[in-house]
Amino acid sequence: MFLFKHKDKKTFAFYNNGSIMNMFYCCNKGFNMNDTFIKARVKMQRKWWKEGSVYQIYPRSFMDSNGDGIGDINGITSKLEYIKELGIDMIWISPYFKSPNDDNGYDISDYRDIMDDFGTLQDWEKMIQKIHDLGMKLIMDLVVNHSSDEHEWFKKSRESKDNPYRDYYYWKKGNGGQEPNDWLSYFSGTAWEYDKQTEEYFLHLFTKKQPDLNWSNPKVRREVYDIMEYWIEKGVDGFRMDVIGAIAKTDGLPSIGDGRKYKWGGEHFLNLPKAHEYLQEMNREVLSKYDLMTVGETGDVTPDDAKLYTAESRKELGMVFQFEHMGVDDNKKHEKWLKSPFKLTKFKKSMSTWQTGLSDEGWNSLYLGNHDQVRIVSRFGDDKKYRKESAKMLATMLYTQKGTPYVYQGEEIGMTNSIFSSIDEYRDVESKNYFADRKSKGDKTKDILKRLNTASRDHSRTPMQWDGSANAGFTSATPWIKVNSDYKQINAQQAVSDEDSIYNYYKKLLKIRKESMCLVYGEYEDFEFKNQKVYAFTRKDSDNTYLTVCNFYAKPTRFSTKDKYDLSKAQVVISNYDNHDIKDYKIKLKPFESLVFKVK
Ligand code: GLC
Ligand code: CA
Repeated sequence: MFLFKHKDKKTFAFYNNGSIMNMFYCCNKGFNMNDTFIKARVKMQRKWWKEGSVYQIYPRSFMDSNGDGIGDINGITSKLEYIKELGIDMIWISPYFKSPNDDNGYDISDYRDIMDDFGTLQDWEKMIQKIHDLGMKLIMDLVVNHSSDEHEWFKKSRESKDNPYRDYYYWKKGNGGQEPNDWLSYFSGTAWEYDKQTEEYFLHLFTKKQPDLNWSNPKVRREVYDIMEYWIEKGVDGFRMDVIGAIAKTDGLPSIGDGRKYKWGGEHFLNLPKAHEYLQEMNREVLSKYDLMTVGETGDVTPDDAKLYTAESRKELGMVFQFEHMGVDDNKKHEKWLKSPFKLTKFKKSMSTWQTGLSDEGWNSLYLGNHDQVRIVSRFGDDKKYRKESAKMLATMLYTQKGTPYVYQGEEIGMTNSIFSSIDEYRDVESKNYFADRKSKGDKTKDILKRLNTASRDHSRTPMQWDGSANAGFTSATPWIKVNSDYKQINAQQAVSDEDSIYNYYKKLLKIRKESMCLVYGEYEDFEFKNQKVYAFTRKDSDNTYLTVCNFYAKPTRFSTKDKYDLSKAQVVISNYDNHDIKDYKIKLKPFESLVFKVK
């Protein structure tokens, strides 16, 4: 228990278990706690996973320890000091379980063992031990919307209609020689696959080697909880839950249209009330017994949906990954492969909606990139002349917002998109399926490749660039996917030793954030929202006010706080430039210049 304002003669105030909520409830009426403080913190519980930052590893592309061209567990273990040095608290590793690798491990055939390519359970045990010894936590990827078709459950399920495992998946009769409904899969074409053995179709929202598990079957849910317990027992500190917003499906799996033309069936499987029931059950059965970090991947959520998943009172998850800001450069029809130019105003609107939407209930995850998105500096910044400046600016904007910071491997050294010149250079099943689908519809190869080059997930899956030696120091063999040709300039060895690097900037920024409770929990407010070139906002609590100012473009621009904050008197906490053109309330911003001011 900690006393609060212990010199106050009329009030006995305290908090315990890191819960600031209790503190408020114990206050007397006349107790002087200013409004901002109450607003910003009263509903917010302090949690380790809100105060720390996450580093995401895509194991296949991180570090190869045994010269087979594929990243592995021992490779990760050999680089843990590098991650720790960056100031990271949690490491989320994309799936490392047994898998035929149709979708690089997001298709699991044995949830309790390690993928052959990646090593053994003993290797994994050494890795988690070292993660813990270094004072970090391990977050595992829980992929249970679907399994691999090579999982024992599915093998049995497809054997016969009366097999006890039949109901572990969704099986349905065809509809007059057609699929049982008209839903599209995420990865092109129908979401159904016909199986000769029993003459029925099974549902797969992703590839046909990723059949959807039937969560309405309590036995399936029990299996999932047992898997979670198995890994918790082994020491994992949390879960990133793959497409968890899709686990519930509308009863009967109805078509969207007349069943003849494939349609996007999201309304029948995204964020349905049943998904919340399942998560509440998971929380009761497993999560509530431990102090874990949880983050659910939930496509198509609004802030209101996200509150349902993450408000403390609901007892579901800690945070979600939402996707609204990942769609700001989509074309009008929301086709992922056809982008329109980036517009700051649209981006700001989305970021701000989420910052204010989850201001005192729920919690945000702060990310711009991951293994499913292209490289952030190529997408939102400038990966040529102003690569360093713009990468630092993006980090400044993102990590001074309210939420838990995520760094995707390579972002901290400003890795960029590659150029893929033929379909043979791609490895990603989504990209390959898209290519085949568009080819069959008559599109020209050149056009399809152009689209893949703007949006393919393989951009973030090229090997981590460790140094300037062959294959960027990732492997001594031929890498499973080609290395970006810019590795001689852009690599970790260079970045660690260069004081002015993106890496050292990230390090400083993450430290500043972690040491300021105001930057973690303080209230977010937009500043000069209408400005089309500059993204500015404040973070406030009773003690401090920070102002973040980011020029999102290569063109210099001006910014004024009007008469609100005298910038010449404010402390610059961090910036991507050494010198600033400040005059009283105004600043002339250089290309991609960003600053965090402490104005109070
Ligand atoms: C998630 C993963 C993605 C994977 C898909 C199917 O979106 O992030 O990589 O392909 O789920 O598991
Ligand atoms: Ca290897």
